[in-house]
Amino acid sequence: MGTSSYDFAIEEIKRRLSIVDLISTYISLKRSGRTYTGLCPFHDDKNPSMQVNEEKGLYHCFSCGAGGDIFSFLVNYRNLTFREALEELAQKLNITLSTDKTKKEKSSNRTNLLKVNNLAISFFHKNLLKNKNSAPARDYLAGRGITSEIAKEFKLGYVGEGWDNLFSIFKEKNVPFQYGAETGLLVRKDGRDEYYDRFRHRIMFPIIDVNGDIIGFGGRVLSENDKPKYLNSPESSLYKKRSSFYGLFNSIEHIKKSGRVILVEGYMDFLSLFSGGIKNVAATLGTSFSADHSRILKRYTKNVVILYDGDESGIKAALRTGEILLQTGINPKMVILPDGTDPDRYILDNGQDSLESLIDDSMDLVEYFINKMSGEFNSGRFSRPELADHLIEFAHKIESSVEKSHYVKQCSNTFGFRESDLHSLLNTGPARSDTPGKPKAAGTVEVDSYELLILKICLKYPELITAAIADTINDYIGNPNILEIVKKNISGNYEDINSLINSISDPDSQTLISKAVFSSDDIIDKNFAEKMLKECINRLKLRKVKEKLLSKRNQIQHLKTDSDLDTEKSLLEDYRNLILEEKQLKSELR
Ligand code: CTP
Ligand code: MN
Repeated sequence: MGTSSYDFAIEEIKRRLSIVDLISTYISLKRSGRTYTGLCPFHDDKNPSMQVNEEKGLYHCFSCGAGGDIFSFLVNYRNLTFREALEELAQKLNITLSTDKTKKEKSSNRTNLLKVNNLAISFFHKNLLKNKNSAPARDYLAGRGITSEIAKEFKLGYVGEGWDNLFSIFKEKNVPFQYGAETGLLVRKDGRDEYYDRFRHRIMFPIIDVNGDIIGFGGRVLSENDKPKYLNSPESSLYKKRSSFYGLFNSIEHIKKSGRVILVEGYMDFLSLFSGGIKNVAATLGTSFSADHSRILKRYTKNVVILYDGDESGIKAALRTGEILLQTGINPKMVILPDGTDPDRYILDNGQDSLESLIDDSMDLVEYFINKMSGEFNSGRFSRPELADHLIEFAHKIESSVEKSHYVKQCSNTFGFRESDLHSLLNTGPARSDTPGKPKAAGTVEVDSYELLILKICLKYPELITAAIADTINDYIGNPNILEIVKKNISGNYEDINSLINSISDPDSQTLISKAVFSSDDIIDKNFAEKMLKECINRLKLRKVKEKLLSKRNQIQHLKTDSDLDTEKSLLEDYRNLILEEKQLKSELR
């Protein structure tokens, strides 16, 4: 988002609207000292863990990590886009937003795009069920256990070979091709006013949101030789991969009723489970599970069972998904299917009861992780201090404090570490190993603890960030939002935090600022902050050096036998220098 032509309006709205008033219209807040507290609406909160700071115009939840300003509150609470939140508040305060499309135009555009998607699916669907040329598609689905009832319930479709099946319908009905291009159903030829069908010779799966609107499509080839196996609609104003599920419209009531959701990865996994009698399913499609996905599921249930493919990549993906769930306050369970099968195959081969009993026996992700660590440690994969590092790193990912101390207890029982040692490592010790730039939810931002500490210090004592530090900060801070904020703050144009906050509209940056501001009590005084700053920078640098060492080592190991001596020499030289640098950094830490 960065700076926009709305900066003035944004600032004006923030000046005139009290965050306490705004949030109070949705949840009840109690005053305590200079802040207000209330039950956090973004997770299942038992004790009021959300704080609202009137003066700074920020809210922050100490349990789930959600936070930001009035805009991000509306975005997250009411599921509005930033633009919608801005328009609503501007209207309320009689502030005109001059440029760009008005809300009316925008919603009429949405209506047009939805109409186009509906037109397309009626064509695809009818084509599948009625057209005699579609027999291979019907046979294909029947062969995979999809009955015509399921095909009807999920409005499955088929589009035959050729570049203009749908295009002709657009032409016939005089629908502007532009709409087709906006939803991704048609593709526009480079630089010309000509269009062709994106989906050709595929089974079509409409992606329907919880309101029943068709927002996108997935298309599967009929023959294993064709590529890609699945083609999905591109991102559009209707279709956001990071927050869309397949089938949720049909399964939502079952999820609510059963109080549990079975999370799968594929269209066919979803349909086979649903038609096999396990209807509380949701599938993420063509993209990995995101914190947005997690936030959406959490509205319906906190009991999530991950059911991915039973191969190595399925287990890896399940762990990744599991960590995202943990980070957003859900303690998921995991089913590991026999190697080589997937949920679709499994239920077709073994039936509903068999799969249901696997689901009932599923393991807590935390338990799975501890078992995995135990196996790897016992086989000598790493040392005891390294084991502790791994355990602590995982602990950082558990958002719920109750789950976290339960986990620590289990680690202590399993590996014989003292609980108090683990706790103190948790508070000081190895930081989170989040990779920069990975997807995050609006409203909950995961961040490396050293990087966060630098941000806190920078906000509290900007003068500690010297020019020398500012010059090299790009080298070791990975989080682009933190970089932006730190740089903005030391450029010195801001009188106080408020004016800094007002100049930043990126929701992730805002969440970070709220997180930093609300948790900076541990920065006691300037001397302490200076020491911490040094240590943080040192540790981040050390981490970078270690990464470089690893990659150099790799390069050296993979040197071709016939590579020239100079290359080898210079690699070894680099390696030695890195080792020296590592030594230096380590000694400074002592
Ligand atoms: N996927 C995708 N694009 C691909 C491959 C996969 O978008 N080229 C997505 C699809 O949503 C797919 C999911 O990832 O359903 C899981 O992929 P995979 O396990 O390879 O497919 P299956 O679900 O097993 O598909 P099928 O059973 O139809 O072979
Ligand atoms: Mn499959």
